[in-house]
Amino acid sequence: SWTMLNIVEDSVQAVRRQVGDGRAICALSGGVDSAVAAALVQRAIGDRLTCVFVDHGLLRKGEAEQVERDFVAVTGVKLRVVDASERFLKALEGVTDPEEKRKIIGREFIRVFEDEQRAIMADGPVDFLVQGTLYPDVVESGGGTGTANIKSHHNVGGLPEDLQFKLVEPLRALFKDEVRRAGEELGLPAAMVWRQPFPGPGLAIRIVGEVTRDRLAILREADAIAREELSRAGLDRQIWQCPVVLLADVRSVGVQGDGRTYGHPVVLRPVTSEDAMTADWARVPYDVLSRISTRITNEVPEVNRVVLDVTSKPPGTIEWE
Ligand code: XMP
Repeated sequence: SWTMLNIVEDSVQAVRRQVGDGRAICALSGGVDSAVAAALVQRAIGDRLTCVFVDHGLLRKGEAEQVERDFVAVTGVKLRVVDASERFLKALEGVTDPEEKRKIIGREFIRVFEDEQRAIMADGPVDFLVQGTLYPDVVESGGGTGTANIKSHHNVGGLPEDLQFKLVEPLRALFKDEVRRAGEELGLPAAMVWRQPFPGPGLAIRIVGEVTRDRLAILREADAIAREELSRAGLDRQIWQCPVVLLADVRSVGVQGDGRTYGHPVVLRPVTSEDAMTADWARVPYDVLSRISTRITNEVPEVNRVVLDVTSKPPGTIEWE
């Protein structure tokens, strides 16, 4: 729209004024905020922006490709991709405690990002760090400027706090829906612009139990099916998010064809919410649930049972970990 175009143009100008002929770096997470921020800054300063995408191997099906291929194709952003999945899995070996998982993932993320940062700075100084801070984040954190007001307590993408960088925050005046519209204006892939909230630690906190490559593969397939069927049923805008959770240490007996199976359950956790502080379980139509269940048990051999979480928040959180 005309106004959104103006907002985008104004932001681009403001970034040019702030950065001058300096260089900037930005961590991409696959989420909409960092993507829109990066696209805006790219428009303003071109390849004096370098983006870093740390692929921790905990994203959902297709999300890494969305960043590496579609986002780059549309924006022309200069991107360094680090496939760090091996490293993250190694660090997560044997870990089942949810907070421990978060800590490890946050720590590894910062280490990998710092390595990249050093490599980028070998080509010359970098003074600016781009962050996708939104207006609600600014208000929540007291509205300070210039310093690192790293988004949420637990956001991966939380970057080193000993900032030697000046922050560039082109979305600071915008609400989420405006960011999405700006993303559309910038031509970003719809799947990225309309992506539902997804936790920084990714699928690691949707596997109850130890995180392994095999378990991630199982969950990734089940999650992709649930997302596809919910979208096909036109429920994306009504549902806040729908975690699919793999109960990796639970097995139950099933039967398929002539055979007995002994597989894992997955939990569907569709919720409605305004802000994730409270939530209600979403009344997804039975026929949609049925299609999801049939497809997951048919297409994901390790899963023989699909269960529905009908707990509101509180007392249940949205995620299981
Ligand atoms: P809960 O499970 O606390 O989740 O009801 C509320 C919202 O926060 C997201 N969430 C996270 N986001 N890092 C994140 O970036 C995390 O560690 C994390 N844990 C939960 C969750 O997906 C929901 O939108």
